[in-house]
Amino acid sequence: MITNRTYTVEPWCVRETALNLDLLAQSESVFALSNGHVGWRGNLDEGEPHGLPGTYLNGVYELHPLPYAEAGYGYPESGQTVINVTNGKLLRLLVDDEPFDLRYGRLRKHERILDLRRGVLERTCEWTSPAGTTVRVRATRLVSLTQRAIAAVAYEVEPVTSRTRVVIQSELVANESLPGSEGDPRRAKALKSPLEPEEHHALGPRLRLVHRTRASGLRVAVAADHVVDGPGQTSTSSESSDDVARLTITSVLEPGQRLRVHKTVAHGWSGTRSRPAMSDQVEAALAAAAHSGWDGLLADQRAYLDDFWARADVEVHGDEEIQQAVRFGLFHVLQAGARAEQRAIPAKGLTGSGYDGHAFWDTEMFVLPVLTYTEPGAVAEALRWRQDTLPAARERAAQLGLRGAAFPWRTIDGSEGSAYWPAGTAAFHVNADIAHAVVRYVAATGDTDFERDTGLELLVETARLWRSLGHHDHHGVFHIDGVTGPDEYSAVADDNTYTNLMARANLLAAADVCERHPDEASRLGVDDEESATWRDAAEAVHIPYNPEAGVHEQHAGFTRYQRWDFAGTRADQYPLMLHFPYFDLYRKQVIKQSDLVLAMYTCGNWFDATCDEDQIARNFAYYEPLTVRDSSLSACCQAVVAAQTGHLRLAYDYAAEAALMDLADLEHNTRDGLHIASLAGTWMALVAGFGGTRRTGDTLRFAPHLPEKFGRLAFRLQFRGRCLLVEIAADKATYTLLTGSPLTIRHHDSELDLNGDGPVTRAIPAPKRRPTPEQPLHRRPNAR
Ligand code: BGC
Repeated sequence: MITNRTYTVEPWCVRETALNLDLLAQSESVFALSNGHVGWRGNLDEGEPHGLPGTYLNGVYELHPLPYAEAGYGYPESGQTVINVTNGKLLRLLVDDEPFDLRYGRLRKHERILDLRRGVLERTCEWTSPAGTTVRVRATRLVSLTQRAIAAVAYEVEPVTSRTRVVIQSELVANESLPGSEGDPRRAKALKSPLEPEEHHALGPRLRLVHRTRASGLRVAVAADHVVDGPGQTSTSSESSDDVARLTITSVLEPGQRLRVHKTVAHGWSGTRSRPAMSDQVEAALAAAAHSGWDGLLADQRAYLDDFWARADVEVHGDEEIQQAVRFGLFHVLQAGARAEQRAIPAKGLTGSGYDGHAFWDTEMFVLPVLTYTEPGAVAEALRWRQDTLPAARERAAQLGLRGAAFPWRTIDGSEGSAYWPAGTAAFHVNADIAHAVVRYVAATGDTDFERDTGLELLVETARLWRSLGHHDHHGVFHIDGVTGPDEYSAVADDNTYTNLMARANLLAAADVCERHPDEASRLGVDDEESATWRDAAEAVHIPYNPEAGVHEQHAGFTRYQRWDFAGTRADQYPLMLHFPYFDLYRKQVIKQSDLVLAMYTCGNWFDATCDEDQIARNFAYYEPLTVRDSSLSACCQAVVAAQTGHLRLAYDYAAEAALMDLADLEHNTRDGLHIASLAGTWMALVAGFGGTRRTGDTLRFAPHLPEKFGRLAFRLQFRGRCLLVEIAADKATYTLLTGSPLTIRHHDSELDLNGDGPVTRAIPAPKRRPTPEQPLHRRPNAR
């Protein structure tokens, strides 16, 4: 149980009632606003104090040399790192000659609210300067979900006790100095002041800066416009230099009088467009935002989110923390993907610079499942980004001596950014994860245009990769040797079950889609013989099983390894990778994160026929005591399979861990950005776990079971142009088709026809009782 929470527990917002300077960096991530294109960390408007200043544009990065102690063939030469671009958030305030800096004077009140329905961050504070002047400041900030270049702030100052001289400096600042940029000096050098000035401009209330990154050659333009509303004698002046453009607003206010500034900031970047074109682009975005006005931007934001929540909300009765957390998670998942538009969805979204701003398989296996059933358009865009990066993936495959496409383990621009090949290049499963996301999206939407124009190429190129990476042995069995599965405490292993099953699904899906689109397939050079080899490989994929233990193996030989000495490992020695050598982790039975357990969720119907519910339960009971959850991606997967196997209490504890990852800063690194996969995993734990939601082909199945604490769980799903409401109570589930044509679904073992005539209710059978599996010492999830 989390005590001492930083934020209050409320269903539709996250409220911080006092400013804790030690937690600034964490709250900057929690309060980050983004639309997937622009990301503003929740830095204080005045810029200082800060934990980590952050303004990100999806796709803007700088290159830096990757250091290797020993060189090797095929190692990526340069790394990509997201950069802090021009900061348009800044509104510095001077109160009677003293900077409004909350580290000094007396902070009488400070409250911030992230409003999940309005899509704004609100702030109110009252502060007395060291010299004794008291002012009230109110600010409302948004990053527009409807105008992707735009962020805006309404900032207001009011003296409380006496006549006060107030100066607001509204700025655009490039190349801010960032805390903690130590580490590899070559990397630090490349990333220090990454923006070279190209243009600065200030005229009246309009400001603009244009810069270009040195090595990656990307042009970044940021412009701002202001509407100032103050008493008669308010004056303004503006100026600019290479890295700063500033509007200075001066006024003298009587108590009760207010100085208001509406600042609108437009962002743009391009690797190809010229400087004048970029300047025009951001000016045009400002003009469009001015046309809407502040009230219009607010109203559009609200309407966008009303529409989203009507399609995507999850209601939880019986646990207010999880209720808040699942909405917080959905909000941030939406923010990460809503307007990413053919760019990656990074592991941290645009909330921080953790993981260098890279995207991983987190996107396809954690984020896109949620968006597929709530905001499907964003999924098509995310996968089109993968399609755009096919040239780099083909080149990488060729470099590795393979056919088709080898997508990168971690990247911003599509090229491999991992300098550690055992948990990078060898993690080939990312290719099947992308294919899986294609199949899921097409099945859930029926978007055949996408299947033909985007899905087909992704499936074909990844199938080619698997066919060339694996081989048939002399019995005809198909093996994929020397790969790393999701569990990064096993590496370069043979026949990782997750990888093999996902590859099998990938190969079959590619063959099927080629049959449906023969002309396009033949344009990609696929003939009947090639697709027949995919089917042969898929049918013959090896799935390692240990008959003595009666369990599937995570990879061939895994269950023979020595068990990790859990009893001899202290609580403070987790995460293990920071305290033990990889070589020892790799050769023992110890699991960083769900791997075989994840396979049972994602490929449940792809195991052999003997993999029934009892087998799944046996597998789960075997792998639980080995899984240490050193990755935030694990708890939600364990929640899903714990629920499936009737361990509802345990599932509940895991669901809570995924849900509170950032709100309670469980891994002590929320400061670097949010764990978007874990936030998405909260939805997964509730919808796939307690809702028991699975899809086979284009049929949805539900096998719900609630934990004791939940009185009710309700969620909405988008499926093939319909909106479905699922309401679960302890003993019954009710399914309602909210919009769209009739649909047949499954509830446990029975088939249900849903039409517009109203809800259909069915009883929930009792789950089978099984002994609760153990977890490694010190790694039991917190009991709620
Ligand atoms: C996990 C990976 C994950 C990455 C980014 C790592 O710790 O092991 O599975 O993709 O974090 O979230």
